[in-house]
Amino acid sequence: SAMREKGSVTEASKPKKAFLRVLAGETLSPPPVWLMRQAGRYLPEYRETREKAGGFLDLCYTPDLAVEVTLQPLRRYNFDAAILFSDILVLPHALGRSVSFKVGEGPVLDPIKSEADIAGLDPEGIATRLKPVLETVSGLARAIPETTALIGFAGAPWTVATYMLEGGSSKDFAEAKAMMFGQPALFARLMETLVEATSRYLIAQIDAGAEAVQLFDTWAGVLPETYFRQWVIGPIGEITRRIHTERPGVPVIGFPKGAGLLAEEFVKETGVDGIGLDATVPVRWAAKTLQPHCAVQGNLDPLLLVTGGSAMETAVREIREALEHGPFIFNLGHGIVPPTPPENVAHLMDLLRRPL
Ligand code: CP3
Repeated sequence: SAMREKGSVTEASKPKKAFLRVLAGETLSPPPVWLMRQAGRYLPEYRETREKAGGFLDLCYTPDLAVEVTLQPLRRYNFDAAILFSDILVLPHALGRSVSFKVGEGPVLDPIKSEADIAGLDPEGIATRLKPVLETVSGLARAIPETTALIGFAGAPWTVATYMLEGGSSKDFAEAKAMMFGQPALFARLMETLVEATSRYLIAQIDAGAEAVQLFDTWAGVLPETYFRQWVIGPIGEITRRIHTERPGVPVIGFPKGAGLLAEEFVKETGVDGIGLDATVPVRWAAKTLQPHCAVQGNLDPLLLVTGGSAMETAVREIREALEHGPFIFNLGHGIVPPTPPENVAHLMDLLRRPL
């Protein structure tokens, strides 16, 4: 059943799935593995379902199809976790902003310009408006294999705010930083709304059957340290504390891409159970500095999965040698890219199921 017991982790309720055992602090060798964007355009079966759905948001909001594309990579590879198929931008959509995905262009949003735009955001109705996504989660909880864990996710408030303020992807984050630096009270109000909405949304995913949640802070690395503390560590810490209080035992993974040296403060101050490392993080530094505080996840460069062969094999060995002596989940440093040959993913999985 999707219902979970509240309370502390007892001997009898200890997680049995490898992915959850590592997030609870165990060291497993070989490590559990899943890949960011494991469902997606590198798979021909995804492209086929995507075409049937019409728009990308239609795919996210049609539970049968979203369940289907989540399961597609699990049929090919024995990943230890499935991640709900959706997008971080369904949240601004549910808050009442217009969001669309144009092929080859990425997301397009109606950018927030004024105080009235921010006052108009309503976090109360999140669980109602994102009902189809929650239905996907409960469908997946029934459908995935017994040893596979189910991950729910949301964008972290800062990353979601960049899309809401810029109206889409950005190179310099000029609009988002203009508000953060120049209108701090207004920016704080937007971030408070996003913390509230994101917490409610993740708790609703947990109640629908998600066994862990990941917060994607893709643009964490573009902020000066003072602002990183306030708007990356602050909101992710608050959401993590709320989940730990309201749904004890459910692990939270933070992915503060580009955090660099601030990753140490991030793990200490947010209280996350796991941190996703991007491909630039030195793995022996992570073993020494981050792994004593939480599980680490990462960090093969996704382009090495496109190249494959001995370049990929060497990189995989280096990552495993450094991180496999503590709590470690193998992943990429960022999402799988569309040109990835599916047979390279199969080869990666072969490598990862062998002892070090
Ligand atoms: O398999 C999974 O990881 C789950 C599904 C997932 C998607 N997006 C599906 C998707 C997840 C976890 C995301 C997160 C996401 N979305 C992030 C954070 C992680 C990251 O990659 O940095 C961000 C920044 C977004 C916003 C977003 N969504 C952008 C910028 C784009 C366009 C760029 C692109 O890759 O096309 C999307 C679209 C998107 N989200 C696609 C998929 C499979 C491709 C859309 C398509 O199929 O046409």
